[in-house]
Amino acid sequence: MKTNGGNRGWKGLLWITAAVVAVKGGWGVLTPAPAEAVALPSSPATENIAHRGASGHAPESTLPAFRLANRMGADWIELDVHQTRDGELAVIHDKSVNRTTNGQGAVKNLTLSQLKRLDAGSWFDATHPKQTVSYRGARIPTLEEVLLSQGKQGRFCIEIKEGLPVGVEKQVLDTLKRHGLLPRHQPERVMIQSFDPHVLKRIRQSHPRLTLVQLIHFREAGSLSRPGLQQIADYADAIGYHQRRMERDDIRRAHREGLRIHAYTVNRKKKMRQLMDWGVDAICTNFPDRLRDVKRERHR
Ligand code: G3P
Ligand code: CA
Repeated sequence: MKTNGGNRGWKGLLWITAAVVAVKGGWGVLTPAPAEAVALPSSPATENIAHRGASGHAPESTLPAFRLANRMGADWIELDVHQTRDGELAVIHDKSVNRTTNGQGAVKNLTLSQLKRLDAGSWFDATHPKQTVSYRGARIPTLEEVLLSQGKQGRFCIEIKEGLPVGVEKQVLDTLKRHGLLPRHQPERVMIQSFDPHVLKRIRQSHPRLTLVQLIHFREAGSLSRPGLQQIADYADAIGYHQRRMERDDIRRAHREGLRIHAYTVNRKKKMRQLMDWGVDAICTNFPDRLRDVKRERHR
């Protein structure tokens, strides 16, 4: 994962290029080049983030999905955490267990042992009848179990949802620390993302070296101004955009402010190729194998 500093290096190069183009092209003054005037680098290095694991192939947010993501060449696994009634951290996307298990109820109203009795795989078998593997009996994992499942090289993109108690952040950070995952490593092994800027600002205060990603809601993408990006750059390293709202110019504008830019959630190869041509830094996908293949095409 590059840092802000890394982005600033090649961002500077773009500005020099823009300046040379401006002078040669007769613009006369060093105004920012329009988007089409500067070719963005194609990004074979675009990072591969497996959204809720390889969730296109296995039930989301379960150990089989996370392990499969690893085998399919993901650089990172993305996951969401919720707190159980007895204060444990469970890895599950929704607030409730209704959609992805055979149980009912809000995670916060269930104990870990109640969660562990639920089947988090059969729903996937039922919705993917052509799959040859059965995931019946897969369980909701704890954060700790997911961290351990990825071995010593695992890299984790952890989303902290809006509206969770503040204590959840601290509990996530304490868990990461216990597992030696706070950023002493190179390459680093953790990034934290959230739609809630307050969560990220608090983490920046307590853990200034941790990579933070400000997720941008679908509805807000078009309204992100330059001052808005600059404010984000004060506390975060990257922004995460909905892929359908991402324009080529968004990538240029984010880079100009020293921010990396990620796209979520991209499942079609054609779209992956387009975003890579535009220079996106990371793609979050349910199909890390497809992104691996697209990246390989570019190395041939
Ligand atoms: O990486 C962004 C993505 O995880 C945010 O959306 O709803 O899948 O958590 P969601
Ligand atoms: Ca998420």
